[in-house]
Amino acid sequence: MTTRPAAVVVLAAGEGTRMKSSTPKVLHEVAGRSLVGHAVAAAQELKPDHLSVVIGHGRDLVAAHLGETAPAVTTAVQEQQLGTGHAVGVALEQLPELDGVVVVTYGDVPLLTGDTLHALVEQHVADGNAVTVLTAEVADPTGYGRIVREADGGVRAIVEHKDADAETRAIKEINSGIYAFDAAVLRDGLSRITTENAQGELYLTDVLGLARQDGRRVGAVVTDDPWQTEGVNDRVQLAAINRELNRRVTEKWMRSGVTMIDPATTFIDVTVVLERDVVLRPGVQLRGTTEVAAGAEVGPDSTLVDTVVGPGASVVRVHCDGAHIGAGATVGPFTYLRPGTVLEANAKAGAYVEIKKSTVGPGAKVPHLTYVGDATIGEGANIGAGTIFANYDGVEKHPTTVGKHVFVGSDSVLVAPVELADGSYVAAGSTVVSGTEPGELAVARGRQRNIAGWVARKRPGSKSAAAAEQAAAGDTGDDGNEGEQP
Ligand code: UD1
Ligand code: CA
Repeated sequence: MTTRPAAVVVLAAGEGTRMKSSTPKVLHEVAGRSLVGHAVAAAQELKPDHLSVVIGHGRDLVAAHLGETAPAVTTAVQEQQLGTGHAVGVALEQLPELDGVVVVTYGDVPLLTGDTLHALVEQHVADGNAVTVLTAEVADPTGYGRIVREADGGVRAIVEHKDADAETRAIKEINSGIYAFDAAVLRDGLSRITTENAQGELYLTDVLGLARQDGRRVGAVVTDDPWQTEGVNDRVQLAAINRELNRRVTEKWMRSGVTMIDPATTFIDVTVVLERDVVLRPGVQLRGTTEVAAGAEVGPDSTLVDTVVGPGASVVRVHCDGAHIGAGATVGPFTYLRPGTVLEANAKAGAYVEIKKSTVGPGAKVPHLTYVGDATIGEGANIGAGTIFANYDGVEKHPTTVGKHVFVGSDSVLVAPVELADGSYVAAGSTVVSGTEPGELAVARGRQRNIAGWVARKRPGSKSAAAAEQAAAGDTGDDGNEGEQP
């Protein structure tokens, strides 16, 4: 049976000076989620009755972010950062009288998982502890609170680095700052802690020592995964944690059946969903709500943001944002799919093609050098190289409809609003303003006129004139004009 805590309190009021940022520290992102968003996601896995985030520096931005991303969360404002004990007290003031377990975590420790919190709570309950602290053995404990153990292995106290003597500083077991408390013990302890310490702060850690002095059980869970207790204080740590989180995310997907040629250059947000037998080539970034279905191949060098890729699709060297790529569709290389693009099954968007807010029907092809905006392209249509869908008149955007099996010749401009009926053709180089009926060919360009002898008269002595003269000399009598225009 799992224990649901009465509350989880996430501490996130600190300034994060070392980030040197106008963005509050906990709003910096790793793997597509803010630092505080990771803390909230882990906390939510415990399904607590209350989830409270203590905010202070940058409170308006942090509160707005939480309001958008985690509306069930309560925020408590700590006006002045008087210490971790004070911060938890501010959160408790806002909550009703709690009974049971209260978990405390930090808003800047993004690798902590719900599973680890579960294990902490379960151990806390199983051992009948008043307080259980998550600890880690680290090579360099400088700066951390040290776990001082009794001879019997129980926790006697946590001593902050700045308050510790040389012997205590030699202890390698550190306080992660993540705890499970009995609610009544926590409330009582917070009413008794003082600022008599090296930093003049109200230390949450002193609640452990008090509980112990009162003869209560204080325990520790030592994690074998110290990354889960790592906080972010500067951008070097932010990058290191991002790399480690990405290592974990890519490993998870490889274990569930995704092939990655180079996970070190493959970046996957925690919100992305992948199916089996997806192949990701080097240099791929999958962001936001992106989903890639079974057997699809993405990359190399592609960024997909909030994009859905259907089964068996091939997506090579592209940037896609808010696009929907159908089953078996092919995209790239050098393709830009913008929000509202839908490629239906087996459609193609090829090299140097940009598509926005448009649907490309089943099996339809936009193979080269084309802009498509605000259009609906029917099944099996072919859009020739260099076609521009002129959707904007400088004031408004207008739609274009291209019917089934329409063939648009190269270098055409379709001036919206315009409609090409099913099975119609557009001659290459046309500027189409008035649409077609089924089966018609639209020719909308100047008729070709050849002026004989122009080069000899206007470019005498040029290499072109010489080449023309030579060609004429070897001429068999045919006029050489074999081109036929529709
Ligand atoms: C704290 C612990 C220390 C532990 C370390 C782990 C105490 C007294 N010490 O030290 O034992 O090893 O964390 O990282 O608890 N915060 C607030 N309001 C405050 C003070 C802090 O919200 O008034 C938040 C900060 O934003 C931060 C977290 O609490 O997310 C920890 O604060 P910090 O000042 O970094 O604590 P440390 O001194 O590192
Ligand atoms: Ca810290």
